[in-house]
Amino acid sequence: MREKNGTKIFSKTELKEAADLLQKGKLVAFPTETVYGLGANALDGEAVQSIFAAKGRPADNPLIVHIARQEEIKELTTGNLSPQAQKLIKRFWPGPLTLVLKKSEEVPEITTGGLDTVAVRMPKHSLALKLIELAEVPLAAPSANLSGRPSPTLAEHVIADLAGEIAAVVDGGQTGIGVESTVVDLSTEVPTLLRPGGITYEMLEEVLGTVEIDPAVKAKVNQESKEAISPGMKYRHYAPQAEVILVEGEAEAITDKIQELAAQESNVGIMASREYQDFYQQGIVKVMGSRDDLTEISNNIFKLLREFDKLGVDKILIEGLPEHGLGLAIMNRLRKSAGYQIIDT
Ligand code: TXA
Ligand code: MG
Repeated sequence: MREKNGTKIFSKTELKEAADLLQKGKLVAFPTETVYGLGANALDGEAVQSIFAAKGRPADNPLIVHIARQEEIKELTTGNLSPQAQKLIKRFWPGPLTLVLKKSEEVPEITTGGLDTVAVRMPKHSLALKLIELAEVPLAAPSANLSGRPSPTLAEHVIADLAGEIAAVVDGGQTGIGVESTVVDLSTEVPTLLRPGGITYEMLEEVLGTVEIDPAVKAKVNQESKEAISPGMKYRHYAPQAEVILVEGEAEAITDKIQELAAQESNVGIMASREYQDFYQQGIVKVMGSRDDLTEISNNIFKLLREFDKLGVDKILIEGLPEHGLGLAIMNRLRKSAGYQIIDT
């Protein structure tokens, strides 16, 4: 075991120690297939309170409760699971899909930000599942970053943001999808996509038939509206220190525009697709991945934003991507990272 500012860094063979800390009401970050989560016993109001404190997270932004076995959903929710919920669980759990359902009395209000619904997911990651089982409680776990910062895809990102603030992190290497889970609200008549992620809109539609998309998912302007259904949608998110500009449109117009903007700057970073990386003559170019492999790109975006912060660039210019498949989740995160500074070419 290593340690940084009092925060223990466990290897994957030290899960028992990590689970003991969780049972004592402490905070332990752990890897999932999406991003690192900051876990606490979801049924212990005080433990959950300390998540909000460590992250600097607004109290009305509810947490996702992580379980290791499907049956655990019964304790957290009321009534019978709808046929829609059953179908989604059968098809996509364990996996990057979070379901919003009516909550039971067992779940403290602080976990759900005062809402009468609870968000539940079963992660597809052996360390996460084992940790939940050893802790013997469901784990509330938001992404393990300081509120507003890019989500962590490596243990070192968690340490950079939270060392000294949390008891421990389990180091499981790089996460596998790199953007957070898809969130679907099933507490409403028609299922509604609140946050796009690894389970795509197209995949949901195939199983459910009809899925609504919350307007904030595709928003190109800041949704300050207090009525936002998923309270997480109304805050600035995923933001590095540098100013970020996202350039959208046809690939060729995008690259011309980025080249033009980069020429006006002395200390600029560019997040490029592999296909266009050699096009740019100015700036520090980092490759997000191939336009033909959106999983590669989703895995890299948060990591690259943090890398550019380390380099201290003043501005980051990002190539926009098509919004199909995983592209919807990627563009949703990039628009937020840019604080909605978007150039449509
Ligand atoms: O992939 C993930 O989901 C990661 C890993 C750690 O599992 N977790 C994560 O948690 O992204 P967090 O807290 O960063 O995002 C939770 C999202 C927020 O947008 C929040 O508003 C929404 O889920 N949410 C949670 N409970 C909700 C509820 N009852 N109704 C509507 N939205 C809810
Ligand atoms: Mg988050």
